[in-house]
Amino acid sequence: MAIHQFNIHNPATGDHWTLNVRSDRYLLAQAQEQGVPLPFLCAQGVCTTCAVRVQVGRVHQPEAFGISSELKQQGYALLCVGYARSDLQVELQTEDEVYDQQFGTFPAQARPGLPLDLD
Ligand code: FES
Repeated sequence: MAIHQFNIHNPATGDHWTLNVRSDRYLLAQAQEQGVPLPFLCAQGVCTTCAVRVQVGRVHQPEAFGISSELKQQGYALLCVGYARSDLQVELQTEDEVYDQQFGTFPAQARPGLPLDLD
């Protein structure tokens, strides 16, 4: 087990946090325990609500089924099932941004939950 520095930036609010985290525990849980209000929903690596872009460092995330291997290679990680493998600097992402990059955007009429024009 190692201790790493974990730097988090939320570009939407301008908030920054710096934590010390263990390498053998999930990043989201450790951030929550230290009072950092990070977004999450499923906490099981599926919904992408907790997605970040890793700017510096490595995240081990074998249970991150909610993002493709391509997005992982582009630097995206899911904090709820991610482990620090080095000091980290990450930036919060919106769930829509990650979803759109993974699945593409749909025309407004085809989005689930929006009324269709059936005329
Ligand atoms: S909270 Fe759902 S993937 Fe992390």
